[in-house]
Amino acid sequence: MLPDNFHFDPLSIEFSADPYAIYKQLRDSGESYYFEPQDMWLLSRYEDVSSIATNPAMVRSLEGLASVEELKERKVMANWHDMPYHERVVQFSLLDSDGPTHRRLRKLVFGAFQGRAISALEGMVQAYVDGLFDQLDGKAEIDFIADFAVHIPGHVIGQFLGVPAEDCPQLRLWSEQVVQFFDVDRSDEKKQTAETAAREFYHYLLVLKEERLTAPRDDLISKMIADEAQGYYLNQDEFISTCMLILMAGHGSTIDVLGSGMHLLLKHPETIARLRMEPDLLPTAIQEMFRFEPPLPFFHRHATQDVTVAGKTFEKGTTFGLLYGAANRDEATFEDADQFIIGRTPNRHLAFGQGAHLCLGNHLARMNMKIIFETLLKRFGAIELATKTISYKPGLSVRGPSNLPIQWR
Ligand code: HEM
Repeated sequence: MLPDNFHFDPLSIEFSADPYAIYKQLRDSGESYYFEPQDMWLLSRYEDVSSIATNPAMVRSLEGLASVEELKERKVMANWHDMPYHERVVQFSLLDSDGPTHRRLRKLVFGAFQGRAISALEGMVQAYVDGLFDQLDGKAEIDFIADFAVHIPGHVIGQFLGVPAEDCPQLRLWSEQVVQFFDVDRSDEKKQTAETAAREFYHYLLVLKEERLTAPRDDLISKMIADEAQGYYLNQDEFISTCMLILMAGHGSTIDVLGSGMHLLLKHPETIARLRMEPDLLPTAIQEMFRFEPPLPFFHRHATQDVTVAGKTFEKGTTFGLLYGAANRDEATFEDADQFIIGRTPNRHLAFGQGAHLCLGNHLARMNMKIIFETLLKRFGAIELATKTISYKPGLSVRGPSNLPIQWR
């Protein structure tokens, strides 16, 4: 049982410094916890999170669960209304759809995210990473986030989709401007920025689609167009929202896990020494980075029918918060769960979710990380933290260091 006065503030410095202490209290209570600010029940034990994530009756979209008026009212309350482009192509996406619509949209891009298709991108990623390290080589100290990590996802995902390299920085900016409005600050100013970015992004992708229609290339946009030509139904907004989701879902998460992963290695120098001796351990080390510090530690589900979880029965319409970050430290599933063990296997962490919405980008994310850490360890002999205190971003939904000054030779 949690004490009566139990309370936590995801935006506090204490929480961002160590969310895992709170997660442990939640898990140890054996119960779900009603989180009033978001009117949802938080689940923290692996078994409970997994049972909801894999239950087809637990969905992401509220459609069908509330009346049209109620849905409108909720949107107004969250200042999530009166933004036509954002509502059409950001608030609706394959991530926020369920059932047949979700399956139809997911199926269209699924193949492009699988192992062999992703391996074909290795050369492009390696060349880009080499180029970035070339530019930074010679500098004694860098901020691993601002000088390096932020440049990776925009370029890699942009190239994968079919965006010309010179436009990738602009896409990165639009993604950030759209995504910032998911956060707690829903001020009108941020709303305007998000809407403008969504509109510009929308029109950019329309033009790109037209170009690929007449001159297809070996990229995901051309593949989606070819599938459309073969009778695969996808309307214009679905096309755009799928492209935007792919760019946005992989952007902040890649930057954050690169930062956390690097920070973990630097806090445990013996792991760096071991990886230099046993480079074959890198894939399990990367999985352990995802388990230990998942960059997207929290997602929601709505119940479309009554459900029993964590010893309690909840009514249809209940919203659950799935704390993937808490489940990943559950001792009942992971031995020495609070230890960072680079050879851990098996490692069935939930950093990429589970069930119908399992992350499509998980092969791409791990491939990026492997190339980056492999190259880093080969090129740089001594890597150290340049400061003792690293602060992590506040909030429940994202996790990653705000900056990471390092020294290297
Ligand atoms: C870098 C680390 C990443 C992490 C930790 C991560 C995590 C996740 C998680 C947890 C979900 C499921 C959400 C839920 O349960 O409701 C998800 C969905 C998704 N992710 Fe990722 N992601 C990452 C990178 C990427 C990348 C690089 C891409 C694409 C380039 C991507 C594309 C997607 C898409 C399209 C979905 C929606 C899948 C669906 O609804 O069927 N992700 N991601």
